[in-house]
Amino acid sequence: MTESGRVALVTGAARGIGLAAAKRFLAEGWRVALLDIDKDTLRATMKALDAPEATLALEVDIADATAVFAAVAAVKARFGRLDALVNNAGIAVFKPVLETTPEEWARVLAVNLTGPFLATLAAAPLLREQGGAIVNITSISGLRASTLRVAYGTSKAALTHLTKQQAVELASLRIRVNAVAPGPVDTAMAKAVHSPEIRRDYHDAIPLNRYGLEEELAAAIYFLCSDQASYITGQVLAVDGGFDAAGIGLPTLRKDGRNS
Ligand SMILES: NC(=O)c1ccc[n+]([C@@H]2O[C@H](COP(=O)([O-])OP(=O)(O)OC[C@H]3O[C@@H](n4cnc5c(N)ncnc54)[C@H](O)[C@@H]3O)[C@@H](O)[C@H]2O)c1
Repeated sequence: MTESGRVALVTGAARGIGLAAAKRFLAEGWRVALLDIDKDTLRATMKALDAPEATLALEVDIADATAVFAAVAAVKARFGRLDALVNNAGIAVFKPVLETTPEEWARVLAVNLTGPFLATLAAAPLLREQGGAIVNITSISGLRASTLRVAYGTSKAALTHLTKQQAVELASLRIRVNAVAPGPVDTAMAKAVHSPEIRRDYHDAIPLNRYGLEEELAAAIYFLCSDQASYITGQVLAVDGGFDAAGIGLPTLRKDGRNS
C-alpha cells in the first residue's frame, strides 16, 4: 500500500508541535487520530481542520491507562489500522530542584514518561499487524542538563532511553521506534515558560540563531514515520538548530569566530 490511507495517532495534538504533525500527516493523505486532554482546544482544532472523514478526536489524559487503551480501541473501531504513533503530549514545570514538589515531579513523569509507555503498550498490537513506527518527542533538555528542569529534563532523558529500549524489543514486531528532540520551538508551551531573557540566551546558544518552527518539527516526525526511514530505529534526532552540537560553543567565542 502507498503511504496514503495510513493512520497515525498523535498525542497532544490539539495545538503546537502535535497539531503541526497531525496537519503534515493529513497533507500526505494519512488519516489521523488527535488525542488531547484539553477538550476545548481539541474541539476548536477539529472544527478548524474541517476533515471529519480523515480525523478522530480523542479526549484523553495520556497518563490514564484505562482511557489510553480505550482510545486505541476507538482508533481500531474507526480506522481499522494504525501505522504510526507519535508520543508528543508533554508538560513542563520549570522550577529549582529544591522547590519542585513531589506532586509536580510525579505529574511530569506520569505525562512525559508513563504516557508514552502506556500509549505504546496499547498501540503495539495494532501497529504490529502490518508494521509501523513510533516517534517519541523528547527534548534538548533530555540530552543536556540545565537549570530548572529537574522533573522535565529527567522525564525526557528517561524517554530517550525508553525509545532505545522499545526500539530494540519491538524491532521483531516490525515496529521502528525513534525520538525527535526539539530545541526551542515557538509554541504555546514555550511562550508560557520562556521569558524575554530566556529567549535572548537561547538565540545566543543556537548556531542557526533562531527558534524552530512547528512545521520543521513536523517534517522530522513525518520522515521518521514514513517509508523513507525504513531502516532507522533507536535513534534520537535533535531538531534544534545545532544547539546540541555546539557543546561549549560560548556565545562570545562564536561571535568572534563567525564565518563571513
Ligand atoms: N516548544 C518547545 O520549545 C519544546 C522544546 C522541546 C520539547 N518540546 C516537547 O514537544 C512536545 C509538544 O510541545 P509543544 O510545545 O507543542 O507543547 P504545547 O503545550 O503547545 O502542546 C502540548 C499538548 O499536549 C497536551 N497535553 C498535555 N498534557 C496532556 C495529557 N496528560 N494527556 C493528553 N494531552 C496532554 C496539551 O493539552 C497540549 O495540547 C512536548 O512533549 C514538549 O515537551 C517542546
